Amino acid sequence: MKDMLVLSIETSCDETSIAVVKNGRDILSNKILSQIDIHNEFGGVVPEIASRKHLEVINMVLDEALKEANIKLDDIDLIASTYGPGLVGALLVGLQYAKGLSYALNKDFIGVNHIEGHISSCYLEHKELEPPFMSLVVSGGHTMILNVKDYGVYEKIAETRDDAIGEVFDKVARKLGLSYPGGPNIERLAKLGDEDAIKFPQSRFEDDTLDFSYSGIKSSVLNYINQCNSKGIYINKEDVCASFQKTSIDMLIKNVEKAFDKYGGKKLCIVGGVSSNNYLRNKFLSYFKDIEIYYPSKELCTDNGAMIASAAYYSFLRNGRSEYTLNASSNLKF
Ligand code: KG4
Ligand code: ZN
Repeated sequence: MKDMLVLSIETSCDETSIAVVKNGRDILSNKILSQIDIHNEFGGVVPEIASRKHLEVINMVLDEALKEANIKLDDIDLIASTYGPGLVGALLVGLQYAKGLSYALNKDFIGVNHIEGHISSCYLEHKELEPPFMSLVVSGGHTMILNVKDYGVYEKIAETRDDAIGEVFDKVARKLGLSYPGGPNIERLAKLGDEDAIKFPQSRFEDDTLDFSYSGIKSSVLNYINQCNSKGIYINKEDVCASFQKTSIDMLIKNVEKAFDKYGGKKLCIVGGVSSNNYLRNKFLSYFKDIEIYYPSKELCTDNGAMIASAAYYSFLRNGRSEYTLNASSNLKF
């Protein structure tokens, strides 16, 4: 089969990223321009600022991605963009830009679900990885376990019923006065703390579901901090971070273990921003000795264009191109 070059655009949140990927696996370029510094002073992503910033930089990011891949626009075979879930104004920038390029260049266009992008991120560096495998998606917006039966064939086994794990890392960090995004700061402080210092409760459901709930642990950490503040008790931030991190990651391990017990399998891919956490990586590796565990490198854990290109390639092979009427969908389901 002829090689296929995919140009992919990811603007669902606060990263403007454009990549060029060959045959869904080989990254020729993956430019990521983060807006974190701009949003940091507000303590989180400001949607309108995110959209405006994407618009300002997208031409430049495209030029850099083409230059690094050492190709011209005309060499591209397929143009892809995330169309959801995410911030609608931010998504629209990348999506409409992709459609415009596709129309002007007379190349196929395809829209990609951001979560399918994260799941596909493991294909880029693990050339031997093929479905079936189990996928744990842990990001700022999602906490999910999926059975990946084949390229583009997914069975959702579990998801969070309320907050996503990354969102709770961000909220706890904010409460402790740590900067956005909170995950890496919690991980840094946790290294200096005692993970058994404070008992935060794990969530429990009455039924034997594999679903997650992170609102309980979020409330108990925030309540703990409020109570210490009101009673004038010193808060050992390192201990709070270590205890919170341990409990929230134990909750992932427990449900992933149940998923393997129920569905079987030998491979696990852990993807999404939270999967860049080293404590998480080490705990999974030491707990699941008989399972092969795959992670993307850190740059591919958080939002990036290359993962969108990989998902686009396999989706195009199965289902073909998308219509230009495809709209941005902020709470697109998976
Ligand atoms: O996948 P991602 O870039 O965006 C979404 O699709 O949501 O994930 C961002 C999330 C944020 O909540 C951030 O705090 C979290 O990933 N994160 C981490 C770490 N690095 C990023 N959480 C825990 N530990 C980390 N080292
Ligand atoms: Zn993401």
